[in-house]
Order: sequence, then C-alpha cells, then structure tokens
Amino acid sequence: MITATVFNHAGGAGKTSLTRDVGYELALTGLRVLLIDLDPQANLTTWLGIPVQDVALSGTVYPVATDGQPLPPPMYVHGLDLIPSQVDLALAETGMLGVPGSQLFLRQALETVRDRYDLVLIDSPPSVGQLAILGAAAADRLIVPIPTRAKGLHALPGLQKATGLYRRLRPELEVALYVPTFYDARRSHDREVLETLQAHLSPLAEPVPDRAAVWIDSNLAGEPVGVFAKGSPVHEDVLRLTSRVAAALGLSA
Ligand SMILES: Nc1ncnc2c1ncn2[C@@H]1O[C@H](COP(=O)(O)OP(=O)(O)OP(=O)(O)O)[C@@H](O)[C@H]1O
Ligand SMILES: [Mg+2]
Repeated sequence: MITATVFNHAGGAGKTSLTRDVGYELALTGLRVLLIDLDPQANLTTWLGIPVQDVALSGTVYPVATDGQPLPPPMYVHGLDLIPSQVDLALAETGMLGVPGSQLFLRQALETVRDRYDLVLIDSPPSVGQLAILGAAAADRLIVPIPTRAKGLHALPGLQKATGLYRRLRPELEVALYVPTFYDARRSHDREVLETLQAHLSPLAEPVPDRAAVWIDSNLAGEPVGVFAKGSPVHEDVLRLTSRVAAALGLSA
C-alpha cells in the first residue's frame, strides 16, 4: 500500500479533481483504491455523488484525527472506497490541538488497512492547518498540483516552507510529482509560468489543459470524468495524468 496526499495550501489548484479522477482511473485498472476527503468543503464527497446530508461526522476522519480511533467503514462509490467529509470536519482543527501526537493518528490508522488497499489518495484542504498536517503526515509521497498562473507561483514559497516543516514529522516524505494545472497554451502568461515551473520543480508532469465545462459539469453530475465524459478530450487529459501519477508512485497500473 502506498499513501499519496494531494497537497497545495493554495485554493483552487486542482487537488480534488486530481484525487477523484486519477483515483477512479487507477481503480478501473484493478488497483484497490481508498480515497480520503480531508476537506470540510467536502468537494470530493459531493463530486463523487454523495450528498453531504448522508455523511455523519462519525463516518469522516474526525474520530481518527481527534481521538486516535480506527478508520470508519468506507463508503463505496464508482468502484472506489471513500472516507467522506462534511462541514463539521472543520471541528477537527481545534479538536486535534492539545491531543499529543494527533497529527500522526491518520498515518497510524492507515497502518491497520495495509492489506486492504494498494493505494490511498488523500485530498487536502486548502490550508496549512491541522487537517492539512494530518494528511501530509499520513503520506509516503505528496502530489502537488500548481496552476500555471501568478497565484501558482505565489504559492511556491509557502509550499516549500510547509513541506519542509512536514518533513520534520516525516523525514522520508518526498514530492513524487508536481502537476501544472489550468494550462492555457494560448496565453503567454501561462507559458511563462510553465517555463518557470519547469526550471525550478522536478519531477514535473505535463500540464493539464484548462477546459472548464466538462470538469464543472462532471462535478454537478457527481461523476468522475471517465464516467461523465468517457473518451472526451478532458478524459484523455485525465488518462495522461493518471499514467504519469502511476509512474511517479511506482504503481503497476
Ligand atoms: N483542467 C481543468 N480545467 C478547467 N477547470 C478545472 C480543471 N480541473 C479542475 N477544474 C475545476 O476548477 C475548480 C477547482 O478545482 P479543484 O476543486 O479540483 O481544486 P482544489 O485545489 O481542490 O480547490 P480547493 O483548494 O478549494 O479544495 C473546480 O470547479 C474544478 O471542477
Ligand atoms: Mg479541493
């Protein structure tokens, strides 16, 4: 079992989209995949078609994070196991404080399901709070999506700082892959940012093109792109990204 956390403290980087769609495609190849939604926004949960009203706080990582309990039973959706989220998961941000070792509780809980999964993909919230640390500390590897926009560049110093701090908890934690996202090759700004990322970050994936409609519509439908728009150009983008992620994580998918 390998655990990869999709991390960027900056919002709207493409974390949840990558988690859902790469997770779905890797499960299709026969890997046993667990997704964990660590974001109280619960986008991963809703974009997989699960209404947040159906999610009890006890079914999220909350009892793991605040009390060191085992993982709750996962939901099963689109061929994936999912530990869902809902808005009250935000209470874990204060619930973890003052509990010694809480930042390592998810890593410890995952140890007990090692035989059950080949891959655990964790979707981080856009923050550097307790839940983000919980996710990073649980990871063997980080996957870091970065928009090819000014805001992507502006996030880089914070990213370096955060990953440096997480490495104190987990010295062997590495970034397996940086993924440029929302790339529009027609914009010189995007091309310039991509060149900067190529000059400074390694390993770096091919950029994921900016193609809004299918992504947003698939969220509304609660379906991975591979279900909602199988064979579409966006699906081809997802398949390319999936191969790159699988290679970066050393998965035989
Ligand atoms: N390649 C793409 N082209 C266009 N839109 C995209 C693309 N990938 C994702 N999106 C859309 O961009 C929005 C932001 O993406 P996403 O939610 O995955 O980022 P995030 O990093 O998880 O955001 P947050 O920090 O809020 O959790 C979503 O509406 C998503 O559907
Ligand atoms: Mg997200």
